[in-house]
Amino acid sequence: MSVTVTVLGDDGDTLVETTRGRVLRDVLRENDCSPYTRLTARANCGGRGLCATCGVRVREGSAPPTHWHDRLADWAGYPRLSCQLTVDDDLVVEIPDKRVWGGRE
Ligand code: FES
Repeated sequence: MSVTVTVLGDDGDTLVETTRGRVLRDVLRENDCSPYTRLTARANCGGRGLCATCGVRVREGSAPPTHWHDRLADWAGYPRLSCQLTVDDDLVVEIPDKRVWGGRE
């Protein structure tokens, strides 16, 4: 069954259809909505939940945290780890501006 991930952007929203149960990080990368900057696209932990460079803000939809860092981020209001988010329902996300690691293109 397919679900929709909406990526909010300054130049308009991007709608991506994907299969339920996929990892958000992978869905974003495959659809030219990478959560990474130029630098972190090459220097990241490969989706192991260690580097915190794949952050997104979940604006709508249910994505219960399962990873300890993601639970903490959800609780504290920080960007969530897209590598630790499974897309089980329609989701609206925003990729925050990332200045520390070189900014997004
Ligand atoms: S890719 Fe490293 S924490 Fe998500």
